[in-house]
Amino acid sequence: MDKLIVRGGNKLAGTIPISGAKNAALTLIPCALLTEEPLTLRNLPRLADIDGFQHLMGQFGVSISIQGNRPEDFGRVVTYEASRLTSSVAPYDLVRKMRASILVLGPMLARAGEATVSMPGGCAIGNRPIDLHLKALEAFGAEIELAQGYVKAIAPDGGLPGGEFDFPVVSVGATENALMAAVLANGTSRLFNAAREPEIVDLCNLLTAMGAEIEGIGSSDLTIHGVKRLNGATYKVMPDRIEAGSYACAAAITGGEVRLEGARADEMGATLHALEVMGVTVESDAKSVTVRADRPLKATDLTTAPYPGLATDMQAQLMSLLCKAEGTSVLKETIFENRFMHVPELSRMGCDIATEGRTAIVKGPQDLTGAEVMATDLRASMSLVIAGLAAEGETTVRRLYHLDRGYERLEEKLQLVGADIERLGD
Ligand code: UD1
Repeated sequence: MDKLIVRGGNKLAGTIPISGAKNAALTLIPCALLTEEPLTLRNLPRLADIDGFQHLMGQFGVSISIQGNRPEDFGRVVTYEASRLTSSVAPYDLVRKMRASILVLGPMLARAGEATVSMPGGCAIGNRPIDLHLKALEAFGAEIELAQGYVKAIAPDGGLPGGEFDFPVVSVGATENALMAAVLANGTSRLFNAAREPEIVDLCNLLTAMGAEIEGIGSSDLTIHGVKRLNGATYKVMPDRIEAGSYACAAAITGGEVRLEGARADEMGATLHALEVMGVTVESDAKSVTVRADRPLKATDLTTAPYPGLATDMQAQLMSLLCKAEGTSVLKETIFENRFMHVPELSRMGCDIATEGRTAIVKGPQDLTGAEVMATDLRASMSLVIAGLAAEGETTVRRLYHLDRGYERLEEKLQLVGADIERLGD
């Protein structure tokens, strides 16, 4: 297995190109199931999770063609054509490796009238149930059966009637599934307290380009007027706000200055605000965000929340940064109950962090030292790389498959701005 070697101490300087958003791509790809016509997605990041999802689409008989696959390019253009579906089953072996597979449930149900998806298992960052996905589909008229570890959703003859669902808690994935099911329903559907993450807006924009009728895009109340059929489209995946935020933390922890090319400041509000409160200068224009850390970092209290609050996907990276900030910070995780697994590893690098339930108390600034570390999830792994960039000596990060799920060519991008980082085979 590969490992990353990070030698800390270099101030990052220069430009990092930001890739297409993983979390958007994983909900845009299953939209191909909604139409017989080709769907072309541009700016798809090259990531293990995307490859896995492509594999799943192949399982349903979707043909896939990849263009512009030069190794030196970031991203690629992929066309999906689901002219005829040959299966409506997402098997255990594929779903187990990738939780986002559950996102085929809504579109497959809408298009084929039924879908069978293996239940995603427990996950390193908490229980992550799918009850709200199923309740929303039931509210739209689907019948749900659970048997032998699989969820089977069946639409009445003639298709889903549509309906109303009020989410008791904001769920990104359940909102996505519900939207993809409602667009082809016979009637009008309404979603209340829906997630309004930028990735949901990206999904609504693609669905609209395919001929869907959605009102309230960007708000938490969505009205979807079902249409008989959807057409194909060509669509550019939005920039990855979490990747951009992660590199902003990397630049800040080294006292550097980095331009994040392609990042959109308006979609990164809470993260950029947190950085500014910590003393990082943030500048932006229509095409990029630049962060500059030329003052000592200050402690601050942060709480994760659904968008427009601070993304849970930024919690671990910001925690690394807070370890170098002057004073005591309190970090609360409100989305997942078990998302502090990076804490013991950061402690091994010299961080002073105490946790109690979903609250972490971070005391800084600490002198960090390199260590052998490994993380159990994607963003936790990134927090270790960020700490390694500011640590004295060498940090070895193992279990790179987590990072490869979500960061396109991480070490190359960090090398571009002067980081001393390399990937080694074991
Ligand atoms: C969540 C994050 C998303 C992030 C992703 C990967 C939020 C609101 N969502 O999305 O930003 O990119 O993780 O880290 O920040 N829940 C249920 N029943 C369900 C579905 C969810 O109880 O059927 C609960 C979850 O346990 C959790 C909350 O709702 O406490 C939000 O979960 P959800 O948004 O669905 O998770 P993801 O879609 O994975």
